[in-house]
Amino acid sequence: MQEILDKLEAKREGARQGGGARRIEAQHGRGKLTARERLELLLDAGSFEETDMFVEHRCTDFGMAEQRVPGDGVVTGQGTINGRLVFVFSQDFTVFGGSLSESHAEKICKVMDRALQVGAPVIGLNDSGGARIQEGVASLAGYADVFLRNVKASGVIPQISVICGPCAGGAVYSPAMTDFIFMVKDSSYLFVTGPEVVKTVTNEVVSQEELGGAGTHTRRSGVADLAFENDVEAMAELRRFVDFLPASNLEKPPVWPTEDPALRDDFSLDTLVPANANQAYDMKELVLKIVDEGDFFELQPDYAANIITGLARMEGSTIGIVANQPLVLAGCLDIDSSRKAARFVRFCDCFNIPILTLVDVPGFLPGTAQEYGGIIKHGAKLLYAFAEATVPKVTVITRKAYGGAYDVMSSKHLAGDVNYAWPTAEIAVMGPKGAVEIIFRSDLGDEGKIAARTDEYRDRFANPFVAAGRGFIDDVIMPHGTRRRVAQSLRWLRSKKIQAPWRKHGNIPL
Ligand code: HXC
Repeated sequence: MQEILDKLEAKREGARQGGGARRIEAQHGRGKLTARERLELLLDAGSFEETDMFVEHRCTDFGMAEQRVPGDGVVTGQGTINGRLVFVFSQDFTVFGGSLSESHAEKICKVMDRALQVGAPVIGLNDSGGARIQEGVASLAGYADVFLRNVKASGVIPQISVICGPCAGGAVYSPAMTDFIFMVKDSSYLFVTGPEVVKTVTNEVVSQEELGGAGTHTRRSGVADLAFENDVEAMAELRRFVDFLPASNLEKPPVWPTEDPALRDDFSLDTLVPANANQAYDMKELVLKIVDEGDFFELQPDYAANIITGLARMEGSTIGIVANQPLVLAGCLDIDSSRKAARFVRFCDCFNIPILTLVDVPGFLPGTAQEYGGIIKHGAKLLYAFAEATVPKVTVITRKAYGGAYDVMSSKHLAGDVNYAWPTAEIAVMGPKGAVEIIFRSDLGDEGKIAARTDEYRDRFANPFVAAGRGFIDDVIMPHGTRRRVAQSLRWLRSKKIQAPWRKHGNIPL
């Protein structure tokens, strides 16, 4: 008997060694952890239960029959993060470069199926040379099996991808369909075709890092949500992130204990908005001052920074924050910020996360670049997302809410539940100067008249009371009481239910 037990232990130990000591050393030499080391940091100590440790590939071409490694380049199973169940797969670059074979794909599919059945998040740690070249179309089929599951799981369980190494070719489309993509600086890249192919086809010379590194995807393309310094930081932040998420679309987000009183006033907010309407201020200050303990998990901070998106908590419960940022492009909505916020709103709505929208928006960014780039369709994404969202929606207008952007930013007209304005709010078709230059064009050139008209317009419209007079704003609130008012609104909205009429699905302007 002991012999049999020893044999099992030896087999397990063999699997744990992956591609062997030399390749593990090479992995460390690149500043990367191994698949198993990453899982150790990600999951609660001792919680990981591995699945399919003894699965091997079935390929016999190109001498593969003699090269079999138990586990076949991906470590799969389930464990807990702060006591909450998650399913994981972690590609092992030391085994055939983490490349995806038929069996490797089957292992990933198995954990995804289980996660869907029980309703728990899936986290994929990607570190792979792509399709297992020796397996040909069997590997491509395996990718498609994973893609299909990504789509089926979308909006049912949270899916998170961490790119810890290469991820190229069609392989990028699995992470692309998950809810969030995190990358590790200097050791990960994502691209559809690598630098050599790019050079052959377009003659462009570009490095891997420039083409698809963490900087590119968190600043230029917006494909990735966050970049971390190394694997250790990535796993630690991922644990913090998962704490905000519900296990599935059938559950509410977890409620964590907080010492921060819900009814806390913050008098420094009374002077946040500058007297001069053209002067910027940092909307993040408002976010940090009203959420529990100033704990804000910002997403895509370096992409389309004219809008802020991220998760925080109110009375211990997760909320999503969407906020215009006057510090960048005066907080205008443009193509990138509309897409960024629209996707975030959709995520919150899928997973029962109430949305707090903080508004200071002078309008949509004008110009040919925006029009040619399709701002009409992209802006419509945000409008559609807010209008369709049935989670509790609370909006606070701090200053400008002009034109179509007023409507778009979770206004009452798009089924906002509670809409507040600060006394400094200006809710109008446009700013006083622009308005007067249009409706009093004949007075242009007479500075005195124009100034008088501008003052008249400002007094009449550049305030929240016209909107409040029509019930478009539920109340004009003191800035210092914002946390209290938002928390109280979210309390009564907890049991909000909306039954939309049956349809297969809407046709969001993609
Ligand atoms: C089989 C692979 C492999 C692959 C790497 N290896 N990629 N084995 N299939 N796709 C193996 C190598 O043979 C090597 O084995 C080990 O993994 C490590 O690879 P190295 O090249 O030594 O590492 P490195 O120098 O760091 O380069 C990593 C790499 C490179 C950039 C990922 O390996 C590479 O370019 N691989 C091929 C990438 C590729 O073209 N994949 C197919 C893309 S198409 P040994 O035994 O020496 O350790 C695709 C389509 C998906 O993926 C379609 C989905 C619909």
